[in-house]
Amino acid sequence: MASRPSSSREPGDLAPVVEMPPTGAKGARLQEIFEAWVAELPTGSPIPSERDLAEHFGVARMTVRLQLDRLAQRGLLYRHRGRGTFVAERRVAHTEHLTSFTEDMRARGLEPGSRLLGIEEIRAGAQLAARLEISASSRVIRIRRVRTADAEPMAAEQTHVPARRFPGLLDQDLDHGSLYDLFEHRYAVRVAEADQRVTVTDLTADEAALLETEAGRPAFRIERTTRDADGTVVEFASSVYRGDRYEVLMHAKRDPGRH
Ligand code: GLP
Repeated sequence: MASRPSSSREPGDLAPVVEMPPTGAKGARLQEIFEAWVAELPTGSPIPSERDLAEHFGVARMTVRLQLDRLAQRGLLYRHRGRGTFVAERRVAHTEHLTSFTEDMRARGLEPGSRLLGIEEIRAGAQLAARLEISASSRVIRIRRVRTADAEPMAAEQTHVPARRFPGLLDQDLDHGSLYDLFEHRYAVRVAEADQRVTVTDLTADEAALLETEAGRPAFRIERTTRDADGTVVEFASSVYRGDRYEVLMHAKRDPGRH
């Protein structure tokens, strides 16, 4: 994942002394200083205590706390109760473009990877059948993977595809490479559009173990129903992305005909 650029500044170093504006504007100025400073520090660097920062900048402790809280809310810092405040990992943005995980990570300069947890053929059953728009008795291939970015877990993903459309998929190497590449190059299936649902969830113990983080941490659950150019459903996938590594961005355009 996006580890921060290494910096010549030591994590414990305080931000350079700057002239603080009069009360009122101090908070905003402090926010700017902290933000620039945090951006230079490697992920996981400890932030000095509120007391030290307050002394250093000649401001009230509450002012420091407020600004650190804001940075934490924006995901730039995280707090460990009893251990202090640390620089968070830079998040990865999720855009509105229909990309594979592989493309998504590459676009951000991260090396995508996978760890195959399992691949099997199952009977669709009522729920999956409804998602994939097939009959309940149809066969479905289920692929479970941990998706990594720069060799660190980013998402745990469960993908279902109709078996009829992808003969021999069980024998393909999904421990490496991209599923969408296989779709296209082996099966001549091009993904054209998708509906996605994004919800917020707390990681279960199992999910947290796969993602190498703690149970109860916030995460995005992203469900995707993907169609080919004919509108036929080619996959239904459910992924859980680490909330501390991922960011969902949306581009919205107002309908010009709207009054
Ligand atoms: C994203 C989507 C999945 C899709 C996957 C394909 O993660 N949420 O629905 O299956 O991309 O990625 P790749 O081609 O890298 O295997």
